[in-house]
Amino acid sequence: MAISIQNLVKEFGDPPTRIIHGLNFVIGDSEFVSISGRSGSGKSTLLYIISTLDQPTEGSIIIDGVNPADMSVEELHHFRNTNIGFVFQFHYLLPELTALENVLMPARNIGQHIAKRDEALAMLREFGIENKQDHLPSQMSGGEQQRVAIARALIMQPKYIFADEPTGNLDSVNGKIVMDLLKRVNQELGATLVVVTHEPDYARMAGREIYLADGRIEQVMDNGVIQT
Ligand SMILES: Nc1ncnc2c1ncn2[C@@H]1O[C@H](COP(=O)(O)OP(=O)(O)OP(=O)(O)O)[C@@H](O)[C@H]1O
Ligand SMILES: [Mg+2]
Repeated sequence: MAISIQNLVKEFGDPPTRIIHGLNFVIGDSEFVSISGRSGSGKSTLLYIISTLDQPTEGSIIIDGVNPADMSVEELHHFRNTNIGFVFQFHYLLPELTALENVLMPARNIGQHIAKRDEALAMLREFGIENKQDHLPSQMSGGEQQRVAIARALIMQPKYIFADEPTGNLDSVNGKIVMDLLKRVNQELGATLVVVTHEPDYARMAGREIYLADGRIEQVMDNGVIQT
């Protein structure tokens, strides 16, 4: 289902500073959208609100037909666990868990880790890190850890994947691997994919590129064509 962003405003501090200035747009089903813009333009702030991790000061988002502001904390947790995959620049793998256990974390949260084990192993194999399944994060390279984090984001086959600078701490080879993986999940599983990136090459992989400047949409490109 589409994500609808309506008159979205975000302010921080007292007195309040406005960071997001009344945005309106819709992210369609199975769309791949990139969000780019200078440091401080509000990309992460916007992504956090779209992905239900933060709430707007004014306006609303509707995701999967519901407004997260109307959900209880428990409902929101369940909604995120079953519908959303998150990928961040710093992956937040749990240091005391192995690669396989980390991938299975979202499944464990809802009591499905045994049922999902084969799938998790298949994904590690596909990502070329099956031989690292029993390694702790500290025993893997940054690129390997990021692939584990992506496998974790995908294990529940989420409808929505939100990624904030997923390639930020990777070299160009691993960055490309990670972006190709995300794009494949978007195309093959039809997951809606929203990626914040400052890399022009990666932004262009999206069907729609949104450019933010000071919390406003400065430019939108649809399949490489500038929209007004
Ligand atoms: N919790 C907060 N409290 C106060 N100000 C904040 C908070 N979070 C973000 N900001 C401010 O909001 C603005 C936008 O921040 P945001 O993290 O969204 O930028 P960004 O576009 O993701 O930048 P970068 O490319 O550096 O990650 C910045 O000026 C930042 O200082
Ligand atoms: Mg950011």
